[in-house]
Amino acid sequence: MSEIAKIELDGTIYELPVVVGTENEKAVDISSLRGKSGYITLDRGFKNTGSCESAITFLDGEKGILRYRGYPIEQLAENASFLEVTYLILKGELPTKQELADFEGVIDNHTLVHEDMKRFFEAYPNKAHPMGILASMICSMSTFYPESQDPNRPKEAFELSINRLIAKFPTLAAMVYKNAVRHPFMYPKNDIGYVENFMFMTWGMPTEDYVPDPIISAALNKLLILHADHEQNCSASTVRIVGSSQANLYASISAGISALWGPLHGGANQAVIEMLEMIQNDGGDLDKWIAKAKDKNDSFRLMGFGHRVYKNFDPRATIIKKACDDILEQLGVKDPTLEIAKKLEEVALNDEYFKSRGLYPNVDFYSGIIYKAIGIPTEMFTVMFAMGRLPGWIAQWQEMLDNSEPIGRPRQVYVGATKRDFVPLDKR
Ligand code: CMC
Repeated sequence: MSEIAKIELDGTIYELPVVVGTENEKAVDISSLRGKSGYITLDRGFKNTGSCESAITFLDGEKGILRYRGYPIEQLAENASFLEVTYLILKGELPTKQELADFEGVIDNHTLVHEDMKRFFEAYPNKAHPMGILASMICSMSTFYPESQDPNRPKEAFELSINRLIAKFPTLAAMVYKNAVRHPFMYPKNDIGYVENFMFMTWGMPTEDYVPDPIISAALNKLLILHADHEQNCSASTVRIVGSSQANLYASISAGISALWGPLHGGANQAVIEMLEMIQNDGGDLDKWIAKAKDKNDSFRLMGFGHRVYKNFDPRATIIKKACDDILEQLGVKDPTLEIAKKLEEVALNDEYFKSRGLYPNVDFYSGIIYKAIGIPTEMFTVMFAMGRLPGWIAQWQEMLDNSEPIGRPRQVYVGATKRDFVPLDKR
């Protein structure tokens, strides 16, 4: 028999259904509560609210588990290619060899962006943040493919929009980089892999042959997989809620990019490196910065620490920390910020403030050190995160549509002025 939750309000008991997920996660379905009782629930920041039922990603914050479509992140990061994981996340199953080859072929067919898009770049000031440009470029794709704005188009047309987005995202991301360094744009090369093509368009030059370094492509492949989805986080929820108004795919993903930009979300990877460099330039006094992070009157937070869901460890951070050591060693890079990061982690993990609040390094704590070592400029870090998160955002958007979810529209508890009469200007 299915479980029922009971809630007593003003002396009346209301029965509410309990929903149980495949991993035994339990939720009280409160959607009928207001209709029955007049009450809504209040949950600032949605800390305890499930917004949907989803079959894409499972995570258990207490046990440090993360799985895409049932497959543990550790196994995927070790063995899969990013496009393989993209296929898995979008379609629910790992591709066969043929299915993967076909998918790669489709993506290769769409890597070129419209020539007119190049002209947009000329208008940005040279200090423009890459995330601002990226969000605009992705939204602009809807103007080049106006059919994407029709919510009633056939299924194949949706798939075409998705494939175009996956294919053109690295091209646009590389153009954002080239624009920042004022180097000529490189056209995509479609006989190399997805990651290698991004590297070619980023670091290749028209005047020389560029051969992607396999150490760097392997590192990028791993980082992209680790970022590929993370269930109902700030940007994924944004994508779902924007898409729930039937806004087109490109507009919805652009909104997700904007949400990711913030330093409490994906922008933390940039903020971490800036913090580590600041600590280093300040003389490296870790106790001072730990004390600042603990001081409630000080706005300083230890960036790359803490997570809404993970309270013991972030499995992505464990993989990245190890990868960081390996990659720096393979590339022969000595980065003093890595030493500071490790010492900072050690001090924080032994500090009662961080221990009692379940604050551990998250995915962004070490990722920036890898990006830096392989030559990605600091302001591009969050663009790399966005490229990794793309399949997750698309799958979340698609699932929301497939489930015919209603338009996202939370309620509120009004605490403003009660009714009062207008006072004409000359009487105020
Ligand atoms: N440094 C110092 N104190 C912290 C930190 C931190 N990084 N994170 C949380 N706390 C404290 C916070 O002050 C609060 O203390 P108290 O209970 O005394 O009021 C307690 O820990 C709980 O924090 P919270 O802000 O209520 O937790 P949240 O779930 O709302 O926020 C977070 C999660 C990730 C926004 C937060 O931990 C944070 O700001 N971390 C730094 C930014 C960061 O690294 N973000 C990347 C997240 S992982 C990448 C991704 O977005 O997917």
